[in-house]
Amino acid sequence: KMDAFVSGLMKKMTVDEKIGQLNLVTVGRATTGAVVNSNVEAGIKNGNIGGVFGVWGTEYVQKIQDLAVKNSRLHIPLIFGLDVIHGHRTIFPIPLGMSATWDMGLIQESAQIAAKEATAEGLNWVFSPMVDIARDPRWGRISEGSGEDPWYGGQVAAAMVKGYQGSSMTNADAVMACVKHFALYGGAEAGREYNTVDMSRIKMYQDYLPPYKAAVDAGAGSFMSSFNTVDGIPATGNKWLLTDLLRKQWGFKGFVVSDYTAVNEMSNHGLGDLQTVSALALKAGLDMDMVGEGFLKTLKKSLKEGKVTQAEIDIACRRVLEAKYKLGLFNNPYKSIDPEREKTDVMTPANLQASRKIAEHSFVLLKNANQVLPLKKSGTKIAVVGPLADDKRDMLGTWVVAGEWEKSVSVLEGIHHIVGNNGTVTYAKGSNITEDTMFMNRLNYFGQQMVSIDKRSSDDMLNEAVKNAKDADVVVAVVGESQSMSGESSSRSDISIPESQERMLKALAKTGKPLVIVLFNGRPLTLTWEDEHADAILDVWAPGTEAGNAVAEVLFGNYNPAGKLTATFPRSVGQIPIYYNHKNTGRPYSGGPTKFKSNYLDISNDPLYPFGYGLSYTTFSYSDVKLNKTNLKGNETLTATVTVTNTGKYEGEEVVQLYVSDPVASISRSVQELKNFKKINLKPGEKQDVTFNITPADLKFYNSRLQYDWEPGEFIIRVGTSSVDTHMAKVNWSK
Ligand code: IFM
Repeated sequence: KMDAFVSGLMKKMTVDEKIGQLNLVTVGRATTGAVVNSNVEAGIKNGNIGGVFGVWGTEYVQKIQDLAVKNSRLHIPLIFGLDVIHGHRTIFPIPLGMSATWDMGLIQESAQIAAKEATAEGLNWVFSPMVDIARDPRWGRISEGSGEDPWYGGQVAAAMVKGYQGSSMTNADAVMACVKHFALYGGAEAGREYNTVDMSRIKMYQDYLPPYKAAVDAGAGSFMSSFNTVDGIPATGNKWLLTDLLRKQWGFKGFVVSDYTAVNEMSNHGLGDLQTVSALALKAGLDMDMVGEGFLKTLKKSLKEGKVTQAEIDIACRRVLEAKYKLGLFNNPYKSIDPEREKTDVMTPANLQASRKIAEHSFVLLKNANQVLPLKKSGTKIAVVGPLADDKRDMLGTWVVAGEWEKSVSVLEGIHHIVGNNGTVTYAKGSNITEDTMFMNRLNYFGQQMVSIDKRSSDDMLNEAVKNAKDADVVVAVVGESQSMSGESSSRSDISIPESQERMLKALAKTGKPLVIVLFNGRPLTLTWEDEHADAILDVWAPGTEAGNAVAEVLFGNYNPAGKLTATFPRSVGQIPIYYNHKNTGRPYSGGPTKFKSNYLDISNDPLYPFGYGLSYTTFSYSDVKLNKTNLKGNETLTATVTVTNTGKYEGEEVVQLYVSDPVASISRSVQELKNFKKINLKPGEKQDVTFNITPADLKFYNSRLQYDWEPGEFIIRVGTSSVDTHMAKVNWSK
C-alpha cells in the first residue's frame, strides 16, 4: 500500500519537487551552527522544503504546515522535528543520568511522555536517542548518551525507540525516532567536539556499533549521520557506512538525515566543493540535508552533468515520503495539531511525577561515610551552600530546547518542601560556578546568558557559607557543572569541579562539620579530593524539572538511591580513555606501579569509581555463584544463580550484574563484558535468588574476519554489584 501510494505521488513530482523533499530547514529558534535558512515561506510554497525543525507549538506549526498542505502544488505535508533529548516540556534527567537507573521501563516511559508532549505541540520527529558509545569524559556529549558499554547502550537505545514510536507511528501521540550520530561520534580524538575519529573495524563492530544496530532492530524510523570521519571519509558521505552497513548488512528501511550543515562541512574535511560533496553524500545513501541546502542548490546541476542519477534522487525522495506515510501524515497532516491536547497533555502532574521518580532512580551514591545520609527530617540544622543550590536553570542540563527552566524546582526549594521553612535550613551561595572569565564567557552562547554571576567578592561569599556551616549540624554543598558545561560543543580538558567551587569545598571541610556533596555533572568528573574529604557524595547529574524535589526525597531517605554508573570515573584526566571492558595487554597491570608493566608511574590504573558502581543506604551481600553445570555443549543453556541478601537497615533496590570473560580466543578479548542485569528490591533481612540464563549468543564476538561467532573453551561467569566487585565461577563450553 505504501509503495503504491508513494510511487503514484512520485510520478506527479518534478525533479525540483523531489529534491525539495530532501531539504530540511530551520527558522532559527533552535540553532547549533552559524547558518540559518532564509526564504522558508517561499521555499515551502514552491515545494523546495521537505521538513522543518526547531519550531513547536500548535499555532505556529499549523501555519507552517498550511503553507505546504494548502499552498504547494502537490500538498505534500512537512515533517516537523526537534531536539527532544530528555523530555520536551517536562524534562527528565540528562540521558547519562537516565542510563544510571538501569531500568528500561522507566527509560521507555520517559520517551513515551516526551513523545506525548512533543506531539501535543505539533511535532512528529525527535532527534533522539543519541546512542554514541563514549569512553572519554572530556567529550561534553557523553552527557547525551548511555555511557561506555555497547550491550547496555543497545538496551537503552531500544527502550528509547520503543518509547518514542509506540505501537504505531500513526498514533497521534507517537513520534519518529532519529538515532544519532551515525557513526562512532563518541570516539572523537582527545574528546574534542567535532574532531576526527579513527578506529579499527574490529573495535567498531565490537564496541561502538552495537547500540545503533539495536536501534535498527527496534524499528527506528530514521538515523542522523555524524560530523566525524569514519575510515577517513566523513560519515555523511560514507557509502560503506550509510549503505553497505546500515542498509545492506543491518536491513535499515528508514531515512538518513545529515547533522547540521554536515554536508557542507565535508568541504572543510577536504572532499571538494559544495556540488561535489552533495553528490557524494547522496550517492553514499544520505537522504536529507539538514540546513546546509547543498542538495537543494546543486543536485539538479549534478543530475544534468551525470554526476548523480535520477534513480539516486528518487530513492532518497522515496525514503522521505515513506517516513511521512509511516507517520500517517498523508492521511492527516494535522494529526499532531490539537490545541486541546496542547493544554491538557503537557507538564501534567502525572508527567512531573514520572520525572521526579526517574530522577530519584538516576542518582548514584558515590560515598556515604558513617551513614551521614539519609539526613534527619527534624532536629538537624542544615547549611545548604553552593552555586547550584538555588539555581533553576542548571537543574535541567543540556538540550532543553522547549524546556522551561523557570518551572524547575531548585534543590533549596526541594529541601524546604520536606523540612519546611522554619529556620533550620540556611542558604549561602558560597562561590560562583567559576571565576575564570574566559571559561565563564564560553559558557554563554548565541548572546544568551547561561551563567548567573554574583557580583559580591569571592571572599564575602565564602565567609558567609563558612559562617553558616559553623552554625549547622551538617553541610549540604550543591556543586559541580552548570547547564552549559556539558552537551554539544562543551569539551573540557580539565574535568574537575571548577576551582572557585573547590576552594569553597576546602573551606567547608575545614569547619569539621559533616560535608555532603550533591554533585551536578554532565560527565564523569575527577573527584579525588572530594572522595577523600567529603563524608557523602550523591551524584544527581542534571535531574530535570523536578530536580529539587527528587534530590530532597533522596537526601532525607524517602527514596533509597540505587543508581549505578554507566561510565567510569577516572582519578585523573591522564587515565582517559578509561573503561571497564579494556584489554588485558601483554603486560597486564597487577595492582601497583611495577616497572615494565602496563601502568603509570604516578597513578594507579584503577578508576576512582568503576562502571556499575553505586552505593545504597542499605548493604547487600552476595553468595557464591551456583551453576547448573560446568561442562556444556553447543546450544545448551547455562544458569548462574546468586543469592542476594539485604544486610542493612533500609529497604532498597540492587542492580545485580552479569559479566562474562573469555580468557582464550583467536583474538585478544576484553577482560570482561556485561551480558545482563536484574534490578531487585529487598526489605531489610530479605534475600532473593537471582538467576541468569546464559546461551552461546552471550559468548559471541567479532573475530578478525568480522564474523560474529563464539569459540569453544573456558569462560568465566561473574555476578556482582559492580564491574570490580563480583563472584566468579568457571565453565567449559564445547561446540
Ligand atoms: O540533533 C542535533 C545534533 O545532535 C547536533 N547538531 C545539531 C542537530 C540539530 O539541532
